[in-house]
Amino acid sequence: MEKQIVGEKAAQFVKDGMVIGLGTGSTVFYTIQKLGLLVKQGLSIKGIPTSFQTERLAKENGIPLANFHEIEQIDIAIDGADEVNPELDLIKGGGGALLREKIIARAARTFIVVADTSKMVDRLGTFQLPVEVIPFGYEMTEKHIRSLGSDLHIRIVNGQAFKTDNGNYIFDCNFPNITNPKQLEQDLNMIPGVVENGLFVGMADIVITLDIEKNIVIKK
Ligand code: A5P
Repeated sequence: MEKQIVGEKAAQFVKDGMVIGLGTGSTVFYTIQKLGLLVKQGLSIKGIPTSFQTERLAKENGIPLANFHEIEQIDIAIDGADEVNPELDLIKGGGGALLREKIIARAARTFIVVADTSKMVDRLGTFQLPVEVIPFGYEMTEKHIRSLGSDLHIRIVNGQAFKTDNGNYIFDCNFPNITNPKQLEQDLNMIPGVVENGLFVGMADIVITLDIEKNIVIKK
């Protein structure tokens, strides 16, 4: 299974004594499981989770966790992605954890992305871009995002507006052909009410994926 192969491979970058940003999703799930095994075998690390879901998973796997005030730096953050372009720019946030993921990826000295072949695209935008907005006045925020050229809808889960770990809403935005990800990332974040968006531009240092023969490829 591709997710397992790339997810487990990322654990090889983790060394004794490191502080590791732990991403969210079904690919990094395998990284966290593998790190749990290595911890049981004596590896000493501390994890900083990007979501409540990952916090639970890390605890279940016996990975010690740290708070920001207890650490000097994050050595490596490891996370999945929804899309990766040839420049290694990303769309993230399919699981709604994009804000904490971006804070932790930005804080890390090295940001490693684990992505199966379905995530590799020529141009970002087939996957709807998640944008986290505060609930106050979200109807106004929606209008401003539409004015950038996007059709969008508020994310609904189990019949209700999805709330992030930060108590915010997610708009899934249809920007079908993102030619300038950096500009769009900045334009969205200039809108009052937008907390963060799922474009991660120039942030990934390493992407672990597979080639067409299913060999592991490490892109930098
Ligand atoms: C979580 O909000 C996302 O950014 C995930 O990292 C991304 O959706 C990839 O998830 P999967 O590994 O489950 O595909």
